[in-house]
Order: sequence, then C-alpha cells, then structure tokens
Amino acid sequence: MPKLLSFTHMGNPVLKQVAEPVNLKHIENYHELIHDMMFTLKQQNKRLGLAAPQVNVSKRIFIFRLPDKIHPRYGVESVEPMDLHALINPEVTVISNEQLVGWEACISLPALVGKVPRYKKISYSFYDILGEKHTRVAEGFHARVVQHEMDHLNGILFPDRMTDLTTFGFEDELIKPNSHEREL
Ligand code: NI
Repeated sequence: MPKLLSFTHMGNPVLKQVAEPVNLKHIENYHELIHDMMFTLKQQNKRLGLAAPQVNVSKRIFIFRLPDKIHPRYGVESVEPMDLHALINPEVTVISNEQLVGWEACISLPALVGKVPRYKKISYSFYDILGEKHTRVAEGFHARVVQHEMDHLNGILFPDRMTDLTTFGFEDELIKPNSHEREL
C-alpha cells in the first residue's frame, strides 16, 4: 500500500540543498518513493507537482501533471493535459530568453502565492521509472511547472525567483480563488 508522505516547508534545510542524482542502474530502488509521492500528491487535488526534497528526500526526482483547465489568473488560454508522471535526473535547457510572469504556489509554502518570471520556452529531458530517456519542448504554463519543480532539485523556492515582492503574500488576500482552481 502506498504511504502518505509528509511535506517539508520553507526553512527546512533539505529545500536549500542541491539534490543528488539518481543512480540509473538502480531506479527500481526509487519506485516505492515515486508511488508514495504520487499517492500523496493525489490527495492534494489542487496541486500539480511535487519534488523529492519536498518529502525530505534529496534526490533528483519530481512528479507533475497538467490539468485540463487552468484558471484565468495564470494568463494561459489552454494547455495540453498531461497525466501524473515521474521525471528522474531531469535537465532543462532554455530555448529563448523571453520570460513570462505568472502566479505560482507551492506545497512547501502553504497558502502563499507570488508572481514569478519564468522562461517561456524550454526543452527538457529526463528518465522515466523504467530508465527510458525522454526529451520534450515546453512552452508557457507547461514550461513554468517544469522550471518550478526543477528549481526544487537545486535548492531554489519560488520566492527566490521573484522580482516584485509586492505580489508575494497570502492567496486569500491576493487572488481570492474559488475552490476549482489548481496550483503548482
Ligand atoms: Ni513547489
């Protein structure tokens, strides 16, 4: 049975560490962790991504999904939905220096949001749980989610990326969302 994992929050040193690569010869050693992360994230129905340091494991693994609907506050018209999946030893390459600013939230900073600049277009590669390598190009919201989760593997939280701290604060105050919204 998968386990419900507890989250680390901003201030926990594990969130400031550069996470260690996974030894690809022993990916199976991480299957249980990944299943537990997926089980745990599914209990958080507004959340889209979770990185291993957020469950106190300093390894280069994250999981994410893309919703079929995104609230207009993200300034995104549409996104190709994607099922929850795991990315092991991911790498991101910036394709264009153009950046977009958009709202982000994070399981490690409950109730807080902020506007964060992110590269509009990236390519990224990763290994899946079977050790197969994948490479994708991502734009807009998809690229934002990947950059946010990738940062967790490098000890960076979204406030570290913010350039306008007047947009950092409690979601209830800044956005007043309805219950159907989804967040990173
Ligand atoms: Ni996060």
